[in-house]
Amino acid sequence: MLSFAESMALKCAVELRIADIINSHGHPITLQEIAASIDSPSPDVDYLARLMRLLVDKCIFTSSQPIADDIKDSSKWLLKDSSSSSPSLAEIDHPWFMAPWHYLTKCVQEGSVAFTKAHGCDIWDFAAANPEFNNLFNESMACTSKVVLKALLSAYGEGFAGMGSGSVVVDVGGGTGMAVAEIVKTHPHIKGINFDLPHVIDTAPQYPGVSHIAGDMFASIPKADAHILRWVLHDWSDENCINILKNFRKALPEKNGKIIFVEVVLEPEGEGLFSETGLVFDFLMIALSSGGRERTKIEWKKLQEAGFPRYKIIQILALPYIIEA
Ligand SMILES: C[S@@+](CC[C@H](N)C(=O)[O-])C[C@H]1O[C@@H](n2cnc3c(N)ncnc32)[C@H](O)[C@@H]1O
Repeated sequence: MLSFAESMALKCAVELRIADIINSHGHPITLQEIAASIDSPSPDVDYLARLMRLLVDKCIFTSSQPIADDIKDSSKWLLKDSSSSSPSLAEIDHPWFMAPWHYLTKCVQEGSVAFTKAHGCDIWDFAAANPEFNNLFNESMACTSKVVLKALLSAYGEGFAGMGSGSVVVDVGGGTGMAVAEIVKTHPHIKGINFDLPHVIDTAPQYPGVSHIAGDMFASIPKADAHILRWVLHDWSDENCINILKNFRKALPEKNGKIIFVEVVLEPEGEGLFSETGLVFDFLMIALSSGGRERTKIEWKKLQEAGFPRYKIIQILALPYIIEA
């Protein structure tokens, strides 16, 4: 019933920049020292103590005695820098993103779309009309990508290395382009294109070796030797996925083109590395997407209907898997 309280405690720690405050000292500090660095003329140390007590209990921070490194590392995810999770927390716990959760009952009762119930339009139209929401979402995606990319590059490094010199790779729905930039940096013989909706591309920074193209994947997709599709199909119904994939068929070379999907493969029987998180992500799709879902191995077989008869599923050390088709 109160699981959200932990999430709110994390949000509070990020907003107060507690991990950054401790990190800037370079050694453990007292509650009073944390309080003195909080952005407020009169912080409430009792509230701060209770917040920290909960987060210590959850092994995000430690108190007094040094304990194992892996536990100490948890609070690093709350740092303000780009390799932490704080942009995702800022997104997920924001009232705009929380509002659709209050419509889940309606979704079950009527099959309606929670995000549209809460905001009057789907998430992409809302982002197009609201620059602050757009930035929150894109920054959150980029920070999650960074975590997943490490696992992707280490598990699929040979896949990228084996592409011919000058091969073009398009990251479709690639957000602001950080991921394809990283792939091109690690494999400089590849040319990268980052493809996304105009309001996303408008805010994308320039990266060496990467060009940005704005467009709509339901209309057409830039031609390339390989396409990457990370956490995009989970936003869409089977019917929409098949329409998107038919466009990929047109954009790939007939003989040796490939698509590299990075998507959750649900293991509802609890066998996967992150099976519980996968189920929570599926629930997140009810809240945020319009008909999207996380899929099991059997549900991914739909790929075959869209003209990709051969594919293999590769498990990596992250929540999503690679599906190479
Ligand atoms: C869940 S995000 C994933 C972003 C990125 N691939 C990642 O993993 O960080 C889905 C992306 O698809 C993009 N998108 C949604 N509809 C699209 C469309 N019709 N054409 C192109 N991109 C679209 C969104 O703007 C967003 O960047």
